[in-house]
Formats: sequence, C-alpha cells, structure tokens
Amino acid sequence: MPVDCSSNRVPSGIPGLDEVIGGGFPRGGLFIVAGSPGTGKTIFSATFLYSGATQFGERGIYVSFAEGRDDFYRNMRGLGMDFEKLEKAGDFKFLDMITVREEAIPTILETILSELGGLGARRLVVDSFSALVQAIRERHDVRIMLHTLLNKITKSLGCTAILTVEIPYGEEKIGLGIEEFVADGIFMLRRSGLEGGRIIRDLEIFKMRGTPTPETNILFTLGNGFKAFPPFRAKPVEKPRRFNPIPDTEEYFSTGSMSLDEMLGGGYPRGSTVLVEIADEHISMRQYHLVVVPTIWNFITRGRGVIITPSRGPDHNIVRMRAEEGGISKEEIMGLLRVCVEDYPGLRPEPYVVVFKGENLREDHEKYLEIERELVEKTGQPVFCIVGLDTLIDIYGLRDTLSITRASATTVREKRGLLMLILKPGYPRLAKLIGALADIHLKVTRKYGVVLVYGMKPRTGPHILEMDTSMGYPMPELTPIM
Ligand SMILES: Nc1ncnc2c1ncn2[C@@H]1O[C@H](COP(=O)(O)OP(=O)(O)OP(=O)(O)O)[C@@H](O)[C@H]1O
Ligand SMILES: [Mg+2]
Repeated sequence: MPVDCSSNRVPSGIPGLDEVIGGGFPRGGLFIVAGSPGTGKTIFSATFLYSGATQFGERGIYVSFAEGRDDFYRNMRGLGMDFEKLEKAGDFKFLDMITVREEAIPTILETILSELGGLGARRLVVDSFSALVQAIRERHDVRIMLHTLLNKITKSLGCTAILTVEIPYGEEKIGLGIEEFVADGIFMLRRSGLEGGRIIRDLEIFKMRGTPTPETNILFTLGNGFKAFPPFRAKPVEKPRRFNPIPDTEEYFSTGSMSLDEMLGGGYPRGSTVLVEIADEHISMRQYHLVVVPTIWNFITRGRGVIITPSRGPDHNIVRMRAEEGGISKEEIMGLLRVCVEDYPGLRPEPYVVVFKGENLREDHEKYLEIERELVEKTGQPVFCIVGLDTLIDIYGLRDTLSITRASATTVREKRGLLMLILKPGYPRLAKLIGALADIHLKVTRKYGVVLVYGMKPRTGPHILEMDTSMGYPMPELTPIM
C-alpha cells in the first residue's frame, strides 16, 4: 500500500488505537511505551513495526537491548507475526545490541543511523530504552543521545520511533525525568486484577502532543498481537438478513452465537438454568441483549417456543422488535413467542402477549405453566424461558421470587428445556443465592466504556463484548483478554 506522504499522521497499525489518537502518530514523532515487566511493551512495539511493514509500506528496525533474536522471532510468530519473512523481503531488520557497553554508545547510534538509511526505514523501536540508559553513567549523555535520536533520526528522516521504558513493579513513575519531556506521546501499559483473580490490561495515554484524547484509558489484549478496544459502539445493520441458526448437540443448546458457545465450551447444557447477572448499572439494554437475543432466534428459527417475562425496561414491543431484527416472521412471533406482561390500563391485546394480574402468585404460575404446556404440545420440543428477575421481585417480592425460581430450575431440568434468569444490579445477595443454583452464571460488566463478559460458572477469563453486524443482524463478538 503506498504511503500517503501528505498526511502528517502515521497509523500506529495497532487495531483500535488509531481512532482514539486522531488517526495515528504524528509522523517523525518520538513515543514512549512504558510499563512493568510483562505488560506488553514488546508486543506493542512489534505490532507497530509489523503492521507498518505489512499494511502501510513502512519498513522498520527493531533495536533490541533486552530480548535475543531467536526469542523475539519465536514469540512473535506465536502471535501471528512472521518477522523472518519480513526480514527476507527486506522490510525489517533486527539489531541485536544486548551486550552493550558505555564506550560503544556512539557506535551504536551510528549503526542505528546507517541501518535506518540503508533500509529506508520509517519506523524504529528501541526495546528497551531503559536497558540502554542503564549502560550510561552520566545523565548528560542520556540527554545528548536523546537529542541525536530525536533530531537526526525522527525529525530529519521522518522516522517514527518508539522507545520502551521499564517500570519496576508497583511504581507509576517513568523514572528518568528526561524522556517524558522530550517525547511526543507517552503510553503507560498496565495489568490489573478483576474479580476472582481475572486479569485485564489497559493502556493509559499520558500525553499525546497535538491530539485531544477524550479516552485516556483503553482496554487491550495481547492474544493475537496488540489490540486495543475503544468504548462499546452499537453498529448499524447494513443489509438485514434472517438469522442463520446454529445446530444444537445432544448435550448443549447452542446460544445462537459461535463466539459465546466457544467461551462456554459448547453452549447451554440441555435442562439448565442460566443466570445472566448485569453487574453494572450503566450496561444498556442493547448491550446485554447481544448476549441473550441470539438464543431466542436460535429457538424460534428451529420451530421451538420461547416465553419471555421481560425485565423492567424492555416491554413486549421491544421484545418483538428484537425478534424481528433476526428476521423472525410475524407468523413465528404469533405462533412461537409469548411475552408475559403485568396488566396495565391501555395495554393493547396481541396474540403473543399474555396478560397477568400479578395478584396471586399461585394463580399466575398456573397460567404460566399452561402457556408452556401449550407451546410444548404445539412444537413437540422444549421451550426456552427468559425471566427478568426484577419484574418478579417487584410483583411478588424477594422471598416468593426465590422460591419460584428454585421450583422452575427443577422443572426445567426434568423437561430438558432452558431457563434464563436476568438479574439487574442492586441484588448482591440474590445474585449469590441464584448463582449457587444456576448451572451457568454469566456476568456482564463494564470498564472504561467497554463491556466485559465472563463466566462465574463455568469459570472463564474476561471477554470483551463487541457488536458484529456483518451477518445482517446484531451478534455478540467476544474476545478474551490475554
Ligand atoms: N502468544 C501469546 N498469547 C497471549 N499472550 C501472550 C502471548 N505471548 C505473550 N503473551 C503475554 O504477553 C506478556 C509479555 O508481553 P511483552 O513481552 O510484550 O511484555 P513486556 O512489557 O515487553 O515485558 P518485559 O518488560 O519483560 O520485556 C506475557 O506476560 C504474556 O502474558
Ligand atoms: Mg519486552
């Protein structure tokens, strides 16, 4: 791909990052990527060089003061980056400077400069800059070297450079007190804990010259090279299509999403009770519906019944709209979908809406079982029931909600159907009690505007939830944080 030289920005090539830093790095800039050991500095830098060479026609040089050549090539191959191939094609060069002495510094700079010129490189990584600096006793020399790097390499050659800086565990400071001022941008990489020993990673933009950065903390993963995740965004569906069902197995109902099936190790076991716990009040309907709705489509498109008692918020009209987003027909909605609604003045009767009085639990439950029986008889197949627990609590109180939930979990097991309970934030005790009786317990939460999903049961690591509309309907796309 030809480089657009008129642009004063170079895409970092790190997925998800360029959009939050105004399109990329200012060309010829000097950037610092800092972090404690294992936070992803090398992978960040390697991704910058690799995508530069493979996507943006920019050759790169990696100057290593820490990791050996073989280790680097092997580790990066494991992440899908074949630097050997790039080197053979003349698009990349690895300079091994691991055994560096103070006397050799001027020679090193000369070598870097001549290699950059020889290759026609536009990207440079010095990893780690801290190791280089350790070899120098005089601070004054550090400053001279930085100026050389800056003036000769970055500015005059138009070469964009990354210096990595090591930060000891538990510290937040960059350390030298010099490079912070010289750099055009500073990124701090972090690894932090989430509930139950789960790990998330985030990048903080400390500084970015000439660029407003409204999002200063961004989650990322290292799984397939460095990938950053800006806040959740709903995407429009370009060409709506009908949901393409996923077959079930003897043991599992598919969730309707390959991504979610994979995370759960197969799907929802037949006869199971699934708790979807919304653990953050800022999770929107659109967001958690991504996890829930494909299972509804997967049941209906296979001629099975679905009964929904919505949470407070999504009424029967929204349920219907969600069904239609998967291309579910009017006939299917009328025949296979039932939405339970508490009676209110002005409620318009519809064939798929079942009205409950909400006065007597026993009476209502009998009615509910009757609808379920009808659907089972009509389809000859098990039914998928979804219940917004906050609605039951509002109507029948906590104690009755818990006992009815327990009873339902037992019957669903006997009938080999599927029961999904949605629990909104604000019921920590109930979350524990119901979590204990559920076969599957998913948690949906949020960090830096990104939606995270993880399994309490079965235990899974945190996954980033994105919306994928490439199929013609909104689907969840889950990426594990590694
Ligand atoms: N194939 C992989 N898949 C997922 N994660 C990986 C993979 N390889 C390495 N990692 C993760 O990346 C981390 C190391 O990343 P990287 O080498 O970029 O860190 P670093 O900040 O350069 O560390 P150091 O300061 O030790 O040089 C490891 O701790 C590991 O968790
Ligand atoms: Mg490293």
